[in-house]
This record gives sequence, structure tokens and C-alpha cells, in this order.
Amino acid sequence: AQASFVNNQIVVKKSEFIELKNDQSKQRKYVLLKSDRMGFPICIYKQSESEFTALYIQCTHRGCELQPSDDYLVCPCHGSEFSNTGAVQHGPAETNLKQFRVTIDNENIYILL
Ligand code: FES
Repeated sequence: AQASFVNNQIVVKKSEFIELKNDQSKQRKYVLLKSDRMGFPICIYKQSESEFTALYIQCTHRGCELQPSDDYLVCPCHGSEFSNTGAVQHGPAETNLKQFRVTIDNENIYILL
């Protein structure tokens, strides 16, 4: 997704959650942010119109990059699983994912790093 860094915030347009396909628009459940300025991507999940969760998708077990899907994230290394709110569902990981504070306005999502 497109994102811009402003001071210590990342700004993402809410419209990133709309996917256009064959003239039809579909809602995305999550968008992935990658940048050289961050070691691992951040995955933003849309929980509702007014609620977003920003997760740092580095596994809390040994540090592999997680694979996101709509409802959960899976670690390719040893199989840990996290919910889309970052809570451990299956080990070997024992710690929830790092989360960033999120605020929104009509147009944008702001992630506080
Ligand atoms: Fe993710 Fe081990 S590094 S389960």
C-alpha cells in the first residue's frame, strides 16, 4: 500500500482498503506497509469502519516474518499463529505481537511509531 512518513507517523489513506476489480469494488480486510525505514512490514487490519489495528509482523518467537491473511497471521518458521488483533493463538510463540497506536480521521489512518 501507499504510505507516507510524517515525523514519527505513517499516514495511510482509508481508500487503500478498497480494491477495484473488474469495475467492482471490494473491501480489503488488511493492507501491508513495507518500508526501508522499518525492519519488518506493518499490517493494518480493518476491524470496523472506526477501528483499525496496526501490527508489526515479526514473530515474537524467533523473529521470522509472518504471513497475514484475513483473520490471522501464521509464522512459516515454526507454525505460531496470531489473531488479527495480535494475540497468540498457537505457540511456540508466547508473546502477543507488537502493536502501534492508531488514530483516524475522515480520510486517513495515522500510525504512531
Ligand atoms: Fe515464528 Fe518460531 S519464529 S514460530
